[in-house]
Amino acid sequence: MVKNSPFYITTPIYYVNDAPHIGHAYTTLACDVLARFKRLDGFDVKFLTGTDEHGQKVEKSAQKARIDPQSFTDRVSKNFQDLTHKMNFTNNDFIRTTEERHKIACQDIWKRLISAGEIYLGSYAGWYSVRDEAFYGEAELITDKDGEKIAPTGAEVEWLEEPSYFFKLSAWQDRLLNFYKQNPEFILPLTRRNEVTSFVEGGLQDLSVSRTSFKWGVPVPGDSKHIMYVWLDALTNYITAIGYPDTVHEEYQKYWPADIHIVGKDILRFHAVYWPAFLLAAGLEPPKRIFAHGWWTNEGEKISKSLGNVIDPLELMETYGLDQIRYFLLREVPFGNDGDFSRSAVVSRINGELANDFGNLAQRVLSMINKNCNGRVPKKGDFTEEDKDFLARIDGLLSTVREALNVQAFHTALESIWTEIRNSNHYIDQQAPWTLKKENPDRMDTVLYTLAEAIRQLAMITQPFVPEAAGKMLDQVGVNETSRDFSLYGIKGRLKAGAKLPKPEGVFPRYADQLDS
Ligand code: MSP
Repeated sequence: MVKNSPFYITTPIYYVNDAPHIGHAYTTLACDVLARFKRLDGFDVKFLTGTDEHGQKVEKSAQKARIDPQSFTDRVSKNFQDLTHKMNFTNNDFIRTTEERHKIACQDIWKRLISAGEIYLGSYAGWYSVRDEAFYGEAELITDKDGEKIAPTGAEVEWLEEPSYFFKLSAWQDRLLNFYKQNPEFILPLTRRNEVTSFVEGGLQDLSVSRTSFKWGVPVPGDSKHIMYVWLDALTNYITAIGYPDTVHEEYQKYWPADIHIVGKDILRFHAVYWPAFLLAAGLEPPKRIFAHGWWTNEGEKISKSLGNVIDPLELMETYGLDQIRYFLLREVPFGNDGDFSRSAVVSRINGELANDFGNLAQRVLSMINKNCNGRVPKKGDFTEEDKDFLARIDGLLSTVREALNVQAFHTALESIWTEIRNSNHYIDQQAPWTLKKENPDRMDTVLYTLAEAIRQLAMITQPFVPEAAGKMLDQVGVNETSRDFSLYGIKGRLKAGAKLPKPEGVFPRYADQLDS
């Protein structure tokens, strides 16, 4: 890897019809962890998130709240911006689709599509779901228990008849299939790739890309009776944020095509079918990867406002701690699969893996050093074969984690890290530095040095997942803030014997202890 290679990662932009919930926090968290990892690994990262503010759904929500859509979106977008700060997300831009820069970008891509002959005027007669902001063919609909037609997602649909511009999506079937074939990792996980491929193989209809029956959107250039379909508008945010339509803009040149758009499985089709087709038709490059993650249920139930079981990420943070929730969400469920949220599972991960496995390891080692080594990084004597093997395993961890994160396997990355944490606990028990204290203090120093070095690396590698706690651990092993990137992982950054260490403090409290205090 060349130092400072660009890496561009995006979240979906969130509809501002509602308060942020666990689904939003989950997608952005995954992106944040990857963005942090890549930065530590020497990449020049652009991490984008934002809000999707146009369309009928948002317009209706504003009407319901009895305020004009702009004031409404200003208010709700602010909640999403606050969430990014409260959850310690490291996005370097926050885009709102009501910004002028975005209107310019949308109108420009439209003009490109028109001049390429990819858009024509017609009229739409068919089904539309406001909740999904999606058009559905008759054959896609299902019936609910009252015999009403509904979308396959369970959303209400309405019959629409209005003049509309169409994008010639039907002509893109073969080119898309060919694109998927040539880019086998464009859609991950692979099961999702197969779903998309079969959908496209089934034939594509031309796509309605403008609406005339309401006003809240970007006007179609040259025909202001129409506004652009909210998904064409929304998807374009990914290039607006890097300077498009200025394609020689420094950021556009550096960051496009995006390395990855992480999205939920429900919006895969828009990203993996429509988006590359729009871009290719406009003469622009498609992104390199779309990763679709699964959905959370809450204690076995589908999450929905009507069931009243929506999970508020801020409440979770307050109850369990931010790093604890960040860890849980990425550890509990293989990224890509659906998963169930349960409070008992959160507590069990906090107490078992964070407090017992990792927290105790650090606490045991650092308090022994504090008491027996004058509060300084101990001297190391000669390493035994066991010490060398032990450190070699830890030194090798970065490449294992890097490989896992290259395919967005956050859970595998965490599992490999915890395997080394458990192995470190095994090493400390086997070496029993507390008995060496009297018998062989030099050997005790070497064992504690080895363990402190292991803690340094484990803390470094867990930074993207649990940034605050890992940062505190690094403070406690005396690693200053400028020495925490991965160029100093492994042998290069080994702790210096004799360095003064601060007094150790626990970084991962047990959940019950928090309740008691
Ligand atoms: N505005 C569109 C995206 C446009 S991107 C160009 C949109 N917005 S959304 O607010 O509805 O999307 C939210 C994100 O949250 C999606 O990635 C969706 O998958 C995710 N989730 C919503 N509920 C979820 C769960 N219960 N579990 C996990 N993620 C879920 O779609």
